[in-house]
Amino acid sequence: MRRTLIAGNWKMNTDHASAVALAEEVAARAAEVTNADLLVCPPSIYLESVGKALAGSPVALGAQNMYAEAKGAFTGEISPAMLTDIGAECVILGHSERRAIMGETDAQVNKKTFAALEAGLVPIVCVGEQLEQREAGKTQAVIAEQFEGSLADVTAEQVIHLVIAYEPVWAIGTGKVATPEQAEEVHADLRKLLTERYNAETAEKVRILYGGSVKPGNASELLSQPNIDGALVGGASLQADDFLGIGSAAKTD
Ligand code: 13P
Repeated sequence: MRRTLIAGNWKMNTDHASAVALAEEVAARAAEVTNADLLVCPPSIYLESVGKALAGSPVALGAQNMYAEAKGAFTGEISPAMLTDIGAECVILGHSERRAIMGETDAQVNKKTFAALEAGLVPIVCVGEQLEQREAGKTQAVIAEQFEGSLADVTAEQVIHLVIAYEPVWAIGTGKVATPEQAEEVHADLRKLLTERYNAETAEKVRILYGGSVKPGNASELLSQPNIDGALVGGASLQADDFLGIGSAAKTD
């Protein structure tokens, strides 16, 4: 069975002291969460300090982005090896904010996915439709296109080492959570895409997270859906109580 993963995407929040304090609290209380793996993704400048605060705890460290090249003249960018060097195990790729604000494309996300896998990082590849696309009945097509583009040429051996996150853009930071049925429908579609491209056995191994206004109060209903294998949490991951509360809502394996 797929073990639930609760990932905190801190986005561009915290300062050094509060990032370390939050990581220390999550690490100290991680035993409250028995049915899920925990991961925190701080701003890149705090990765090293947060990693130190997490040392010895079961909480994993992840980044929010990276560049696809190994090194060179790419001012301001961070390489996959730099992330593994400071102890990051995962990296969020293609978050809708990067797609919408920085214009990141499926092709770029695809390139980053390969670079992350090659470096031994677990990519968390994000997909999700915008409100107009959902209202126009295009959700399934948009998700399929992002899946095909972002995960083009990924082999069955590789896909089991990555995580997919479904984050409907209209539910991010808006307090408007997708209903468990709406989320499960897309997650089941993603599982079907994986099954069609690979096979059922491979598809069953891939964790698919839901993201978009996940809170302790709505987490158990979402996480009890058969194809929802965890959560990618934004706002609520900035409070240890809320983040751990979401983790405690995880179903048993
Ligand atoms: P919120 O939980 O704040 O809606 O953010 C979700 C998200 O974008 C996580 O990556």
